[in-house]
Amino acid sequence: MKKWLCMMMAAIAFFMSFNVKAEEDIMSDKKVLVAYFSATGVTAKVAERLAQVTVADLFEIKPVRPYTKKDLDWQNPQSRSSVEMRSGNARPEIAEKVTNMSQYDVVFVGFPIWWYREPAIIDTFIESYNFEGKTIVPFATSGVSGIGDSGGNIQKLVPEARVAVGKRFADRVSEEELQSWAKEWL
Ligand SMILES: Cc1cc2nc3c(=O)[nH]c(=O)nc-3n(C[C@H](O)[C@H](O)[C@H](O)COP(=O)(O)O)c2cc1C
Repeated sequence: MKKWLCMMMAAIAFFMSFNVKAEEDIMSDKKVLVAYFSATGVTAKVAERLAQVTVADLFEIKPVRPYTKKDLDWQNPQSRSSVEMRSGNARPEIAEKVTNMSQYDVVFVGFPIWWYREPAIIDTFIESYNFEGKTIVPFATSGVSGIGDSGGNIQKLVPEARVAVGKRFADRVSEEELQSWAKEWL
């Protein structure tokens, strides 16, 4: 009986050491922010999961004027989103600012893909801070499209930062997948 107990305890300790190793893998000295815009809640859920697995602060990029269902009608060329995305230099206003952006080393920036790229409000966000010496890592959700040139578009707005190509995720992406993707920057 004692022998069995000892073997059980040794086995538990062995498996626990794997967990500790996984946590160590994601721990780093870097201060991380997950900032996201989400019009209908899909990206928000992925952003929350990402912030959890990267032990990051979470910031929602909220438009001063929230997008209504009508605004989001991509089939109407006159809808707000269609007009903004066609313009190329629209900069929808953001309601709140990140407190002390200078403290962060890595900023994950999440958004829904709109017309194969980052929504105009992401460009507003990027242009609102000094990202010198920081790493920006875009991530997105979408119907089907990939992240496209979003990373390159963002890099053009902030030549002083290091901007990753980024990745598009399915809405049900697991914490494990997010963790193994994110650790490259941590
Ligand atoms: C104006 C607009 C344009 C969109 N363009 C694309 C697109 O080009 N490719 C795609 O796969 N999905 C597109 N979508 C779908 C969104 O990317 C998708 O539903 C996303 O997961 C929504 O995220 P959210 O709930 O965080 O806003 C578009 C949605 C809207 C409202």
